[in-house]
Amino acid sequence: AETKNFDFVVNNAVVSPDGFERSAVLINGQYPGPLIKANKGDHIVIPTHNELADPHMRRSTSIHWHGFFQPRTSAMDGPSFVNQCPIPPNTTFVYEFDVNDQTGNFWYHSHLSTQYCDGLRGAFVVYDPDDPLKDLYDVDDDGTIITLSEWYHVFAPREMTNFSSLESSHSGLINGKGRFNGGPLVPYAVVNVEQGKRYRLRIFALSCRPFFTFSIDGHNITFIEADGIEHDPVEFHSVDIYAAQRISAVLNANQPVGNYWIRAPPMGGSPKNNPNFNPNLTLAILRYKGAAEEEPTTLDVQGHKLLDTEMHPIQQLGPGKLGDKPADKSITLNIDNTRNPPFFDINGISYVSPTVPVLLQILSGAKKPEDLIPSEQVFVLPKNSVIDITFPTGNLHPFHLHGHTFDVVRPSDGEFNYKNPLRRDVYPVNGNTTFRFFSDNPGAWFLHCHIDWHLEAGLAVVFAEAPEENVSGPQSQITPEDWENLCPMYNELS
Ligand code: C2O
Repeated sequence: AETKNFDFVVNNAVVSPDGFERSAVLINGQYPGPLIKANKGDHIVIPTHNELADPHMRRSTSIHWHGFFQPRTSAMDGPSFVNQCPIPPNTTFVYEFDVNDQTGNFWYHSHLSTQYCDGLRGAFVVYDPDDPLKDLYDVDDDGTIITLSEWYHVFAPREMTNFSSLESSHSGLINGKGRFNGGPLVPYAVVNVEQGKRYRLRIFALSCRPFFTFSIDGHNITFIEADGIEHDPVEFHSVDIYAAQRISAVLNANQPVGNYWIRAPPMGGSPKNNPNFNPNLTLAILRYKGAAEEEPTTLDVQGHKLLDTEMHPIQQLGPGKLGDKPADKSITLNIDNTRNPPFFDINGISYVSPTVPVLLQILSGAKKPEDLIPSEQVFVLPKNSVIDITFPTGNLHPFHLHGHTFDVVRPSDGEFNYKNPLRRDVYPVNGNTTFRFFSDNPGAWFLHCHIDWHLEAGLAVVFAEAPEENVSGPQSQITPEDWENLCPMYNELS
């Protein structure tokens, strides 16, 4: 294990990933943000300098390291007003945490309002020198990292007053390149392979809204990892990857030398509201060594679509370790958006950020639900307990839990499976669904729909896990008397 330092300058610059120029919120001027690579056990230090200046977008920021458990470092998790105050412009905040034994595909993104839709998103890979599945592939390098994202020609709205019209992006990007109807013929990203080799593809849905149906013409690929958890290999042709989900899949370059389309049409939202948007323009090129440098002419031939119920964690990670006994604590979350749009409610309440970050409330002594603000949206979890979260309904909302992975013991409207359930950190709730996890990680953890418009419209709750445990943080000496002055720069300069 080593210490890995990455210097992040959060700044504004004009970029044009699909040929349309716009100002964006970026890390070191790049879209997508710089790839972060670490090894199992590393200590990560990321001084984050906020140089945001464009008044069209938020000027404060905070960054979430999506998928990392942050044991005893809940203060480094990133969500504004849950784990920290936003970082004001012209200041530096140092993120520092251990990846511990987590490996696989993670990512990072702004966690202030809808700011990551304006650009602040990137991939984060943790390699495992002793990967139990490494016999399945020959190559695992930067060349086979594939980011999927959608892109907007307008600034992300600060208030969700008319979000249904804003749900559609203008284009979809693969490795930061894409096209829109009527736009220039931006060269597509190329993934280079050599015939006869097997490649570990690492595929990231750095998405604010859509899910992506990923496939490669003429090839089946083999799923092996979801959200940092290795799963038994399953061969498939296409897979739906929801906002914030990641997978690894092995591509066997066993087809004739040539060029093949990689496809990832973004789906969901209201694309009909945007005449520029054409999902079929979200493409990249798989190019075999020796093939001509030209665009493929291959056709999309449908094959097996990978199902959630086919995904089972590999044995040594302990599938079903949480057992089938009744949960120690069960929480039911009823999703409702029948109230005047654009609000989403959970159990009748739309989440609103508190002015004092929930973690700092805990660190200053709040222990009971009634001590916590907003009390009806913060659930206290007892320590070392089996927790069930049940959503009686849902309409493809990709829910993400911070601080944990969860077992999907009831997939959407499916059969209960306590034996070898899918384990991940984002799952699209689509009907009656239950997540199960073990509360062994004290801190404040957000649970929310990862469609960022829906989060901003209130589709979220916060867990105060084992608040009696002392998780230290940089602002842990705060007293309730200090609360009103805690995040002052934000209100002036957001
Ligand atoms: Cu990837 Cu709360 O986020």
